[in-house]
Amino acid sequence: MLNFQRRFLATSEIFDMDTNTDALGRRLIEAGYPPLSIKAGNGRVQSGVIRGREPANGYTRGVGLEFGQLARELREHPLYLEALEVSRRRSVVIESRLMNLFLLIAFYFDALQDHNVAEFGAYRGGSSLFMAHLLKRLYPQANMYAFDTFEGMPPVDSSADFHLKGDFSDSDFPGLVQARQQSKLDNLQLVKGLVQDTFPRQVPVGTRFGLAHFDMDIYEPTAYAQSVAWAMMTRGGYFVYDDATVSTCIGATQAVEDLTRSRGLHCEQIYPHFVFRVGL
Ligand SMILES: C[S@@+](CC[C@H](N)C(=O)[O-])C[C@H]1O[C@@H](n2cnc3c(N)ncnc32)[C@H](O)[C@@H]1O
Repeated sequence: MLNFQRRFLATSEIFDMDTNTDALGRRLIEAGYPPLSIKAGNGRVQSGVIRGREPANGYTRGVGLEFGQLARELREHPLYLEALEVSRRRSVVIESRLMNLFLLIAFYFDALQDHNVAEFGAYRGGSSLFMAHLLKRLYPQANMYAFDTFEGMPPVDSSADFHLKGDFSDSDFPGLVQARQQSKLDNLQLVKGLVQDTFPRQVPVGTRFGLAHFDMDIYEPTAYAQSVAWAMMTRGGYFVYDDATVSTCIGATQAVEDLTRSRGLHCEQIYPHFVFRVGL
């Protein structure tokens, strides 16, 4: 099937959409960066909010990255390359997922009222540095909050989780602090400790998030963070799960199942990771 689709795409341009940057990525252009050939929907899928998400936008990003030219274009985009450089290979997040985080912040944040980002599960801080750089360039008033023990996995629930206590303990917290300083990312707030103890306590009252990135790989803290973060999201904000479709993270999948059942949600995007919208 995949081969068929790739062959089909080689002879078709249906997934390589026209350039239309009027509506998307305004902030990117104002900040002096070039536009990308990205367009909201390709005419196949109804646009707008349907069942609490915008399927046309999910298709644009997901299909563009998986089958179109979007990944190739991004690899040449100066802001994407800058952010990748700032993350200094400190991330275990796969590149297609970093690309989708880039698309959400550089193109789809325009439509949101609040632009702070929370990452639950920062490890060596790579994806946090990546997003903090994008915010610094495009939304300098916004903060990037990175939550982690920075000492590895806490005790896990062996009825759901594959990881073991102590996995990811080589977080090199001093190196992350140094990387933050070198990159002048004073918008990156490193919040050390169990997320169940630090969140939301260490975030100023009234903070609203445009995006929450869940990357703790295990059930309990993911279920906790998503339930507390829900009320702190701006309308239409993004819940993004790095890990819930990864073979070693069925505990995180279980948390997403809780979310879809309890909130009656449908996802906006499945590739390269789950994306849900809050409050639409
Ligand atoms: C896969 S790593 C995160 C990867 C990271 N986003 C990157 O860019 O490479 C998962 C992290 O979740 C953290 N974690 C798991 N449970 C946690 C909890 N209850 N509180 C804080 N951090 C937790 C672990 O310490 C680990 O560093």
